[in-house]
Amino acid sequence: MRKLVLLSRKGGTGKTTLSVNLAVAAAREGLSVSIADLDLQGSAGAWAALRKDPNPEVRGANGGTLFPVANAAQRAGKQLLIMDTPAGGDAISGAAIRLADLAILVCRPSYFDLAALVPAAQAVRAAGCPGLLVLNQAPPRRGGQESAVIGRAVEAAKVLGFPIAPVGLRARVAYQESLWRGQGVLEFEPRGTAAAEISRLWSEVSDQLWPARVELRGAAE
Ligand SMILES: Nc1ncnc2c1ncn2[C@@H]1O[C@H](COP(=O)(O)OP(=O)(O)OP(=O)(O)O)[C@@H](O)[C@H]1O
Ligand SMILES: [Mg+2]
Repeated sequence: MRKLVLLSRKGGTGKTTLSVNLAVAAAREGLSVSIADLDLQGSAGAWAALRKDPNPEVRGANGGTLFPVANAAQRAGKQLLIMDTPAGGDAISGAAIRLADLAILVCRPSYFDLAALVPAAQAVRAAGCPGLLVLNQAPPRRGGQESAVIGRAVEAAKVLGFPIAPVGLRARVAYQESLWRGQGVLEFEPRGTAAAEISRLWSEVSDQLWPARVELRGAAE
């Protein structure tokens, strides 16, 4: 079982949105997926309450129960555990980082978001966990031009020392509408632009979680 943690000290960056959408992308590839909802707000649990499909399952957890919850997922044959952490929950996030195979730092392309990422980035590095920075809620292109804030965020990510995912997510209504149905955007609008973003991001993330698959693919070419 591979373990992925979604992090940001700032609230509302998109940790839960990414958790549920990546979980749905993995489930649609046939993986058995569990989300550990480490946030007392219980957003991932609220999303699951609207779903009929039991994959991904969502389990509430805290710093004390994360290990037993992860252990139970492993014994139940889950192939992927996604840990959705709360904003500002340094102790809980720390426990999740120590378990994780990959940490996704989620931030909007804003100065405040990037500045607030520093402690999370340090915790990920201290744990020796590979990290990937994902920009979420990026503004749309205007006249074919990328907003200047994207360039600034990419430069700031270099200072943090984390690779930035080649695909970020733009601010799109589909990410919000799908939640009302307990769906991921891949289920809500499979041919939509949000679904295409999530597919590309999942492909990047799964290649990092299962590097042997990438090598095998390379060998087959
Ligand atoms: N790419 C996006 N486009 C449009 N809306 C988005 C996008 N990503 C997230 N949102 C919306 O932004 C809000 C915050 O997202 P979300 O709850 O995923 O953030 P979070 O980091 O988990 O927040 P918290 O810190 O409270 O746990 C939600 O209303 C969500 O629907
Ligand atoms: Mg959340």
